[in-house]
Amino acid sequence: AEKKALPVVIWLHGHECTGCDEAFIRSVSPMASDLILNMISLEYSDTLAAAAGEPFEHHLQETMKKYAGQYILAVEGGVPTADNGIHCMVGGWPFLTVLKEAAAGAAAIIEYGSCAAWGGIQAAGPNPTKSVAVSDVVRGKPIVKVPGCPPIPEVMTAVVMHYALFSQLPPLDSQGRPKQFFGNRIHDTCYRRPFFDSGMFAERFDDAGAKAGWCLYKLGCRGPETYNSCGNLRWWNGLSYPIQSGHGCIGCSSKNFWDQDPFYER
Ligand code: SF4
Ligand code: SF4
Ligand code: F3S
Repeated sequence: AEKKALPVVIWLHGHECTGCDEAFIRSVSPMASDLILNMISLEYSDTLAAAAGEPFEHHLQETMKKYAGQYILAVEGGVPTADNGIHCMVGGWPFLTVLKEAAAGAAAIIEYGSCAAWGGIQAAGPNPTKSVAVSDVVRGKPIVKVPGCPPIPEVMTAVVMHYALFSQLPPLDSQGRPKQFFGNRIHDTCYRRPFFDSGMFAERFDDAGAKAGWCLYKLGCRGPETYNSCGNLRWWNGLSYPIQSGHGCIGCSSKNFWDQDPFYER
């Protein structure tokens, strides 16, 4: 039988910090290297490609033409829209322009990280570059939001693998996130939850309660209103997550988390 062609992925970077790439390459199951080398055909990524410069930009154009209507478009980063998008230039063009061009031929779009999904830290008030989410400037395509700053590595690889295997996005919730990974609050699976339920709270980061691992709610933990898989999947192959390292959840996967109440107050 003829070998099935690997799904083509184009990965664009806009207004962002590259932390989502840093997360992605640390996926253990599947290994990011296995995914990139054996399961998808990653044709364009500023950061993961060996190529650069004009030949690489030419390859992007060729790929968009050759696989029009078929490729998966992964986007990391918000989209600055002020002044015709000149606050983020990629390959000599405003990111806004490149994004619209690439989105037109995409079969589906993945918004990786809270920048792509919600506009990102650079969208914090007064948002001088008018940075917005990808879905604010691209319409009419299947889009999945994979928020988090950054998202959990295995959530990133799982979402693109789902599309690669089933040729469709996974089931989404009302905000466009995969239900499988954003169906629970951090608070629902937090191992410190028994302390919350018993009213045992750390009041300061250096008090006896903090040292004993009590609940971080009074130090600003946003676990009760944040949807993500950190409590059950954890980071770096199940090693830890913010709360396990002694800091409350700042709600990094929530819309506009940067402009919500102060991080350390309740
Ligand atoms: Fe960086 Fe966070 Fe944006 Fe990812 S979502 S690119 S980690 S600022
Ligand atoms: Fe909930 Fe945060 Fe307390 Fe965990 S530390 S039980 S998520 S409030
Ligand atoms: Fe982010 Fe909260 Fe998880 S800050 S990494 S959603 S525990």
